[in-house]
Amino acid sequence: MFTPSLDRRIKQVTLWTLGTVLTAAVVTYFGMHNRVTDVGYRPQQPVPFSHKLHVGQLGIKCVYCHAGVERSAHAPVPTVSTCMGCHLVVKAESPRLALVREAYETGKPLEWRRVHKLPDYVHFSHARHIRAGIDCASCHGPVERMGVVSQVAPLSMGWCLDCHRNPEKFIIPAREISGIFTVAQAQGQPEKPTATLAESRPVTAPPYGLWQTPVSAPIAPGIPAPKLPGRGPETCSACHY
Ligand code: HEC
Ligand code: HEC
Ligand code: HEC
Ligand code: HEC
Ligand code: HEC
Repeated sequence: MFTPSLDRRIKQVTLWTLGTVLTAAVVTYFGMHNRVTDVGYRPQQPVPFSHKLHVGQLGIKCVYCHAGVERSAHAPVPTVSTCMGCHLVVKAESPRLALVREAYETGKPLEWRRVHKLPDYVHFSHARHIRAGIDCASCHGPVERMGVVSQVAPLSMGWCLDCHRNPEKFIIPAREISGIFTVAQAQGQPEKPTATLAESRPVTAPPYGLWQTPVSAPIAPGIPAPKLPGRGPETCSACHY
């Protein structure tokens, strides 16, 4: 109906517009996704490992697998030798553990998919929070009831600051099931993966500000004694540098 060249021009413009709108939609979606909707992020893992079974039912403490969380910025995900400590014997033939056995034999680590991830420009340290007696559940929710781990907190700047300003509203004090700062550790007894959930109770007294941990000496070599938690920082440079 128009001249051929005008026709072509209209097609070009239409295509270009469509392309731009699509790109904008994709960018917005993933941009938003990162900020807002990571809550509930729950990737499928290579091995059907269940915290609900291992922690909720078997009573294995968090630090048995995520060892070193009191000392380092990161909470390491366990290597397969931790798993094989039990699974050489328990369910040794299970097809659901085939990948774990393979990784153990070849020495190649399992590729667990990362659930929680802060942007690189944010500085976060587990050690500092754990040492102040802040339980994992304050930030990760009731992991012991999760079949597949999902992210329950937005990990946004506002979320960090909400707790730093009013910690008493958000902190769940250290629980037995986490395995952090227990009296057993203070007395130098090895952590046994035998506590039941029924035994899990706060090690510290709940009212914020009145917490007295029953432990004064260093818990174990390299692990400083817990302290009364203060307020977290609000200055930009504490988290960004
Ligand atoms: C028997 C070992 C074991 C125990 C005990 C255990 N975990 Fe895990 N945890 C894992 C493994 C393996 C993964 C990686 C696979 C996955 O995400 O499910 C993991 C992943 C996680 C993640 C997600 C990490 C990420 O990628 O962001 C969190 C959070 C977590 N565990 C918290 C806990 C807490 C809290 C407890 C105690 C209530 C606990 N775990 C006890 C083995 C364990
Ligand atoms: C004050 C909040 C907070 C507490 C308490 C906390 N975590 Fe985390 N956790 C985070 C954040 C934030 C990340 C993401 C860190 C990153 O991307 O650098 C994370 C990441 C993880 C990861 C993935 C690996 C890593 O370190 O990046 C594991 C596993 C984990 N946490 C386990 C635990 C366990 C087990 C406990 C209790 C012993 C615990 N966390 C206590 C906030 C917390
Ligand atoms: C302290 C001992 C212990 C450790 C450590 C342990 N598990 Fe288990 N796991 C068990 C027990 C007990 C069962 C349940 C067996 C049953 O159902 O009778 C089990 C069951 C499983 C199952 C289900 C198997 C099936 O056939 O139903 C998977 C998968 C699994 N574990 C993965 C892992 C992984 C991965 C790790 C390391 C991150 C790990 N486990 C560490 C004791 C352990
Ligand atoms: C559930 C409460 C809570 C949440 C959520 C929380 N914090 Fe904290 N944070 C604290 C408390 C309490 C302290 C002070 C600890 C002490 O007294 O040693 C602290 C201390 C800190 C410190 C100072 C210690 C250091 O490592 O240099 C930094 C930095 C920090 N938090 C970063 C973060 C970031 C980043 C986030 C969000 C990803 C976050 N926090 C989420 C409670 C929280
Ligand atoms: C307690 C830790 C903490 C403090 C203090 C903090 N931030 Fe952040 N900030 C974060 C986290 C966590 C993110 C990542 C947010 C996300 O991924 O959605 C962030 C993201 C940002 C971003 C990226 C844009 C955005 O909104 O995602 C900017 C810019 C920023 N912060 C500036 C500041 C400034 C300016 C200050 C001082 C007034 C400050 N921050 C103090 C934890 C903190």
